[in-house]
Amino acid sequence: MNALSSNVSRTIQTRLVLPPDTNHMGTIFGGTVLSYIDEIAAISAMKHSRKVVVTASIDRVNFLSSAEVGDILTLEAFVISTGRTSMEVFVKVESENLKTSTRTLTTTSILTMVAKDSKGVPSPVPGVIPETEEEKELFKTAQVRKRRRLEMRNEQTKREGDLQ
Ligand SMILES: CC(C)(COP(=O)(O)OP(=O)(O)OC[C@H]1O[C@@H](n2cnc3c(N)ncnc32)[C@H](O)[C@@H]1OP(=O)(O)O)[C@@H](O)C(=O)NCCC(=O)NCCS
Repeated sequence: MNALSSNVSRTIQTRLVLPPDTNHMGTIFGGTVLSYIDEIAAISAMKHSRKVVVTASIDRVNFLSSAEVGDILTLEAFVISTGRTSMEVFVKVESENLKTSTRTLTTTSILTMVAKDSKGVPSPVPGVIPETEEEKELFKTAQVRKRRRLEMRNEQTKREGDLQ
């Protein structure tokens, strides 16, 4: 399987923040942003693998600023790196106030998506060739993040086993 440029999976979505997406202060719910992040990460991973994908994990998400009713959210995603069947996907969310034209970084997130075959078994994916400085920086540190993630998963599995 030939490795693909991160550009193959690069995906951009814009969304309007509407009243049903917001709390009583008129700012967007974190869970709504998370669902947007999950969806764009899945699209990006599907573009890379051309397979059905599931979310294996979402790394810590910090909401650096909020978005208000009427703001435009721009989400951007690309596959950073891959293992045999998993893809690490970077997602960045910016909000834009249309009256002031101010753009603010709302959050960034890194998710792991796993490709599956028609029987639901994890299925191989192509590698990644990072090209831009941002892609190369994130690619360099991917293995360390993957190791930490799997350690955390094993700790959680053990903890839940102990509680049963
Ligand atoms: C994630 C899932 C596919 C892992 O399946 P598994 O049987 O443990 O398979 P494996 O151990 O072979 O792991 C497959 C890949 O997932 C990765 N992986 C598994 N758990 C992970 C986790 N918690 N975080 C990040 N990566 C993970 C493995 O490192 C492996 O990657 P690689 O092939 O690139 O090395 C499986 O647990 C699953 O389907 N979970 C439900 C996913 C889902 O439905 N998500 C939607 C929200 S509920």
